[in-house]
Amino acid sequence: MDLLIVGSGFFGLTIAERAAAAGRKVTVIDRRHHIGGNAYSANEPETGIEVHQYGAHLFHTSNPTVWEYVNRFTDFTSYVHRVYTTHKGVVFPLPINLGTINQFFQAAYTPDQAKALVHELAGEFDAKDAANLEEKGIALIGRPLYEAFIRDYTAKQWQTDPKDLPAEVISRLPVRYTYDNRYFNDTWEGLPVDGYTAWLERMADHPNIEVKLSTDYFDEAQPLNKKATVGQVPVVYTGPVDRYFDYAEGELSWRTLDFEQEVLPIGDFQGTSVMNYADADVPYTRIHEFKHFHPERADRYPTDKTVVVREYSRFATRADEPYYPVNTADDRSGLLAYRELAKGESEVYFGGRLGTYQYLDMHMAIGSALSMWNNQLA
Ligand code: FDA
Repeated sequence: MDLLIVGSGFFGLTIAERAAAAGRKVTVIDRRHHIGGNAYSANEPETGIEVHQYGAHLFHTSNPTVWEYVNRFTDFTSYVHRVYTTHKGVVFPLPINLGTINQFFQAAYTPDQAKALVHELAGEFDAKDAANLEEKGIALIGRPLYEAFIRDYTAKQWQTDPKDLPAEVISRLPVRYTYDNRYFNDTWEGLPVDGYTAWLERMADHPNIEVKLSTDYFDEAQPLNKKATVGQVPVVYTGPVDRYFDYAEGELSWRTLDFEQEVLPIGDFQGTSVMNYADADVPYTRIHEFKHFHPERADRYPTDKTVVVREYSRFATRADEPYYPVNTADDRSGLLAYRELAKGESEVYFGGRLGTYQYLDMHMAIGSALSMWNNQLA
């Protein structure tokens, strides 16, 4: 073996694929029973509807290198992501755009009129002086839109009143003064035609790549553990950086999600893939209806059944899946301390969202793995 990769998410698999193509013998281990990390998906058995097992994954990128690379393993559908939100029993389009504003104020503002209105409403606070997330939100879009679409949703995401959250949690709140409600601004977007797992499996399908699942790097009962491998073989580590150092500099904090999945005996529950729930009286943040991610599969998917997943957000404990870095001041200083420790490790390369304590979209994880391969490993 020339290279050991801990974690079979997009970061680990991209390194594995590049290394194998360059003639190196690679072993990828993952503690989960499946490959693909958080991008893994599986068909719900009763309906055959593809469900992203760790939350909805929409591929989008403006990076031509990444786009060329991912197209070696999968074709993409022409799916375009759009999100709606329910507030006080009425559905509005997101991100906040001219349609949202005109519906909310029951008006027919032109782009310039809407801009002037939001500017006037936002004058209540100066974003530079905002003492907390609430003041920052009001400074960016004004109180009425903030209270309707941001306040309670943010409180649910963080289990914290936005008045008690730091202003830095949001840097900007995009408002579009057109009716364009495409969620992503990227050059390319779409979903893998035959699903995420087929894509991920193709990346690992090379005679130079061996994948060992249900194998934890810190389990000394299995031979490819940390003690036995560091210093013996180059290691790309994509698990949590604090876990690698046995939490020596404290635990980095994460938010996690709970998913409540249900098969409903109806053809269509909400008419779209993602519906957010903006208000405090609904405990979940959003509902995904997975058949809407693949309208092109209408002839294969049942017409009398659908799969919905309600999503709840909360702080993670060590036993939970870490999803979004919380990034408090303590987390940032902890991360710097871990980066120092990482420099002392012989031939261990920390990458991916867990290894660098960073939220990374898929195209970013793939792009940074390609850079690591080209600049440090090749
Ligand atoms: P990833 O977490 O996928 O893989 C790390 C792997 O390491 C895991 O499989 C884990 O089991 C393994 N591992 C950890 N510790 C180990 C140990 N001790 N021993 C062995 N293995 C170990 N992106 C996007 O572009 N569009 C989107 O819509 C979304 N949506 C989305 C929703 C949610 C809820 C989340 C949390 C994330 C997204 N993402 C996303 C981001 C996407 O999931 C992310 O870019 C990739 O997962 C990054 O791949 P990594 O390989 O870095 O980590």
